[in-house]
Amino acid sequence: MMDAVEFAGKVAVVTGGSEGIGHDFCRTLCGVGCEVYFCSRNADKGRLAAKALGARAHYYQADLTAPDQIQAFAAHVRESAGRVDYLINNAANDDRIKFSDLTVEDCDRMWALNLRSFLLMSRACLELLRRGEGKSVVNISTTNYMFGLSPFTVYNATKSGILGFTRSLARELGEEGIRVNMISPGWIMTEKQLRKYVTEEDKQTLLRDQCVKHLIEAKHVSPVMLFLLSSAACAMSGQNLVVDGGRYFQ
Ligand SMILES: NC(=O)c1ccc[n+]([C@@H]2O[C@H](COP(=O)([O-])OP(=O)(O)OC[C@H]3O[C@@H](n4cnc5c(N)ncnc54)[C@H](OP(=O)(O)O)[C@@H]3O)[C@@H](O)[C@H]2O)c1
Repeated sequence: MMDAVEFAGKVAVVTGGSEGIGHDFCRTLCGVGCEVYFCSRNADKGRLAAKALGARAHYYQADLTAPDQIQAFAAHVRESAGRVDYLINNAANDDRIKFSDLTVEDCDRMWALNLRSFLLMSRACLELLRRGEGKSVVNISTTNYMFGLSPFTVYNATKSGILGFTRSLARELGEEGIRVNMISPGWIMTEKQLRKYVTEEDKQTLLRDQCVKHLIEAKHVSPVMLFLLSSAACAMSGQNLVVDGGRYFQ
């Protein structure tokens, strides 16, 4: 059984926690008593987010496309907390890029955040995860690549790479008791998605295609993240959980 008590005083690291799904992860982890270290690029937004989250939230400005800033973020966590119990690789860029418009710069930019930062952040936190008790990593992917949606070739190339990364890291770190899992959310009604992309027609399509007849929000993904981090999931590693209201069946 999952017991929220096990999270009290644990150290969680979340990439991209100033808004969207990552922010709800931070809210949830603070709520169960974790000390939560999160980063983003926009420091004003990040500090505001930390203020809203309360005293257990610790903001650090970092651009995860820059390897030295990933190192600096991990060093900050080491100096402040001395260990990491849980790492949630979340920040990504979901730019819609028509394949015929794709450039080298797009490829590099998307790889640097959506996949390379997952690898480098995990590497930078490895010693800290070894010192922690939680020993759990959760990587955030998407169902988008499973459907092969358009125009998302570069996004989906990076997000599907998270599957191979998750499985291989789970295998490599399993002997040390570190578990690595992945969540693939469907279309999540974040502020940004609602502002930029989601139409009334999209909502009707989702409700028609999903098994459950409510739109999926970040607050529906967070409990799954918490479960994968928890000791209740001690038998799960290298796995991918889809959270999309039952739209895609694996
Ligand atoms: N929303 C969805 O429908 C959906 C569906 C499936 C999967 N996902 C996945 O869920 C995760 C979160 O998505 P979201 O929609 O919640 O994203 P979001 O609303 O765009 O938020 C992204 C967060 O990451 C930060 N960030 C962006 N670029 C960064 C960088 N280079 N360095 C450091 N931080 C950076 C942003 O802050 P700054 O801009 O200030 O840096 C923000 O805090 C992603 O992995 C995404 O692929 C989302």
